[in-house]
Amino acid sequence: MKTATTKRRITKTATMRAVVGAAALVLSVATLTGCSNGAGNGGGGGGGTGDASKAKIGLLLPDSVTARYASADKPLFTAEVKSKCPGCSVVYANADGDASKQLQQAQSMLTQGVKVLVLDPFDGEAAASIVQQAKQKNVPVISYDRLIDSADLSYYISFDNEKVGELQGTALVAALKAKNVAEGSGIIMVNGSPTDNNASQFKAGAHKVIDASGYKVLAEYDTPGWDPAKAQDWAAGQISKLGADKITGVYAANDDTGGGVIAALKSAGVKKLPPVTGQDASLAGIQRILSGEQYMTVYKAFKPEASQAADLAIQLAQGKKPAADTTVKTAGGASIKSFLLDPVAVTTANIESTVIKDGLYTASQVCTSEYASACSSNGIK
Ligand code: BGC
Repeated sequence: MKTATTKRRITKTATMRAVVGAAALVLSVATLTGCSNGAGNGGGGGGGTGDASKAKIGLLLPDSVTARYASADKPLFTAEVKSKCPGCSVVYANADGDASKQLQQAQSMLTQGVKVLVLDPFDGEAAASIVQQAKQKNVPVISYDRLIDSADLSYYISFDNEKVGELQGTALVAALKAKNVAEGSGIIMVNGSPTDNNASQFKAGAHKVIDASGYKVLAEYDTPGWDPAKAQDWAAGQISKLGADKITGVYAANDDTGGGVIAALKSAGVKKLPPVTGQDASLAGIQRILSGEQYMTVYKAFKPEASQAADLAIQLAQGKKPAADTTVKTAGGASIKSFLLDPVAVTTANIESTVIKDGLYTASQVCTSEYASACSSNGIK
């Protein structure tokens, strides 16, 4: 049953990649044409009106405590828009973990006349009112990475997020088994933000695997705003309460919160760290994997995600509504046209063949003097 589901997902993704590739090709031609002849009907308002070759596209990201937004999403998205529509511009804002700030940022973008909003919501329920206000101005909204609970979304682009959690849980259980940690010993779980729909999917995927493993969950925590400092404080409290030696594994939902837990364990004097999971393949996370402080991360290729969002935003600005690969249901039951990419688990064994090969980082970015010997023993050069 599970295998069938997994297979179906993989097939979907493979088909989707082919579709994306073809769509990207058609799009770049269409965009170039649009740009050279200055096509457009000169009106104001949202997608499909005005001069699409000079469209303003709003990009709203959720927090500043997670490495990926500044290091990957913002620069990748901006570069993709520039290359596919040189006359277009990106208006950017980060909500800094504050839903009302994100609402104001979106309102200001709508006032500035953006043609499309690409919105990664801090709070997936609260952001429905942004979608509502955008709709009134005829501005389509793409739900970026996190799903917004609104029937009025144009598209949703993300990864298979339950699979992310399954990959984390599977790697953690395998690491515990490899260390011969007795069944019945304990895991602490540091989940993501309660306002993020992805976080509940990561958690569900991880629980599915951990709950069936025989390893016990001693305690778990939903980290407000994915704040690494809060994850660290909570973990420090659990270490004093349970005793560091009782914590034989750590599920951390991403690299930044995992880094917080590792800091708490180290400051409690723990020398042999338990296996700790992560997500995002952040530079710090990859380096901790090399030094042995973190066991694994999940690599989600940000470039295809940002590029797909940029393609769709430009097409929506031109009044087009391209076909999607699949549909995803919101909590409220609406079907949203979606693209879901495939996540990959990363340990020392495949850093080279994933994040280095894909050019997320160069070997010299990763292999600074502290990590040079770990790099060479893991074939990273
Ligand atoms: C994203 C993760 C990210 C987390 C914290 C999630 O919605 O999918 O990649 O680490 O938010 O911002």
